[in-house]
Amino acid sequence: MIEPITPFQAPVGTHDVLGPDSAQWEGLIATFAQFAYLYGFELVITPMFEDVGVFNRGIGEHSEVAKKEMYVFEDRGARRYALRPEGTASVVRAFVQHQPTTPWKAWYITPAFRYERPQAGRYRQHHQVGVEALGTDDPALDVEVIALASRFYAAIGLSRVRLLINSMGHDVCRGAYVEVLRAHLNLHVAELCDDHQKIWHENPLRVLDCKKDGCVAVTTHGPMLPEHLCDDCRDHFARVREGLNSLGIESTLTPRLVRGFDYYTRTTFEFIADALDGAQNAIGGGGRYDKLAEQLGGDPTSGIGFGSGIERLLLACQAEGVSTASLLKRALDVFVVDTTGDDMATRLVDQLRAAGVATSRAYDGRSMKAQMKVADRSGARLALLVGPQEQAAGEVTIRDLRSDDFEHAQQRVAQIDVVNAVANLLTK
Ligand code: HAM
Repeated sequence: MIEPITPFQAPVGTHDVLGPDSAQWEGLIATFAQFAYLYGFELVITPMFEDVGVFNRGIGEHSEVAKKEMYVFEDRGARRYALRPEGTASVVRAFVQHQPTTPWKAWYITPAFRYERPQAGRYRQHHQVGVEALGTDDPALDVEVIALASRFYAAIGLSRVRLLINSMGHDVCRGAYVEVLRAHLNLHVAELCDDHQKIWHENPLRVLDCKKDGCVAVTTHGPMLPEHLCDDCRDHFARVREGLNSLGIESTLTPRLVRGFDYYTRTTFEFIADALDGAQNAIGGGGRYDKLAEQLGGDPTSGIGFGSGIERLLLACQAEGVSTASLLKRALDVFVVDTTGDDMATRLVDQLRAAGVATSRAYDGRSMKAQMKVADRSGARLALLVGPQEQAAGEVTIRDLRSDDFEHAQQRVAQIDVVNAVANLLTK
């Protein structure tokens, strides 16, 4: 006898996605793929795990994600790998490895793994759609990438979205700014939150990002990055903002926006959904990373991209009452009910599908009544019925499941004419 066991559950902080919710995912992903195509990005697929160095060097080994949240493991060959906590470092690793012609514009959809405290909108496995574009630091590319995100959010029906923007400068002007910031924090250490009293010296930029009262008070009157940019970075940032303005995309200068990864240089941005709870309301974020290719062993190559959390986007859609499933514009066309017990249903569904008609059927030779119940629930427009009478006459009954007019809701047609008859009815 098999010992009874407690059924397994998906791991803490992860979710299964089943229909009908999965249709929301499909609508969102299909729309993103269409936008990526419109903007000239090609799909890139990289392994879900990488040498741990890709992320330690890429996102920075002192970043919260690398230090506390990465799923690191040793495989059976004693290699140290990490499950991808985000998409950018892997894509840039692939760029360095394959050296595609630039500008190289790639999009992706990927799970990302972070050992975080699970809560609404924060998971240990989440999914991102994103793009990365490498090979130029032209501000027009920054504008294009931000515009793609902004237009995509509008296309899936989100209207309460704000764009926050900042420039992190490059290593020289940021380096000088960090020293000024450190000197300021040094005067106020006792006022910082407990965590930042310990790490302010090692990573002063993180204090800007802290939401706790003490850190906010200390940094509010402290030096801010945009005032310390060198001429080149200031000019670059101004051109990005002008470009966005010219497209009618509003952005709010947010000097505290430093983002969590070390690879960022110059433009950084985040999209906030006001329909979501404040703690997890970032639906997307990104920026430039002009040193990342070099940090991963490649030639110096500028790059910029963004990633957007699918779960959070769908939460925001739900909160705004919009459905991404409706973007798919599709439903089941036909449901085949067959009580003859031979392989008529098998042949019918095959013919209809070959003709591009979305078709489903019942199984297990159940009664007409039971099969019709499933047909009604399926949402199909038409039911095709094959019983002993139809079988004997070489015919099929077509019933319109959306019609209240019982007299005219059904008709019998010869089996060889079924595909044409169905196609005609579906276009009515
Ligand atoms: P990120 O801001 O860490 O950036 O993540 C991008 C988006 O993923 C967030 O805005 C959020 O919507 C979603 N997200 C992040 N963590 C979680 C989580 N634990 N649960 C649910 N959703 C989450 C990046 O990952 C960068 N790679 C973006 C980028 C691309 N920068 C340049 N290119």
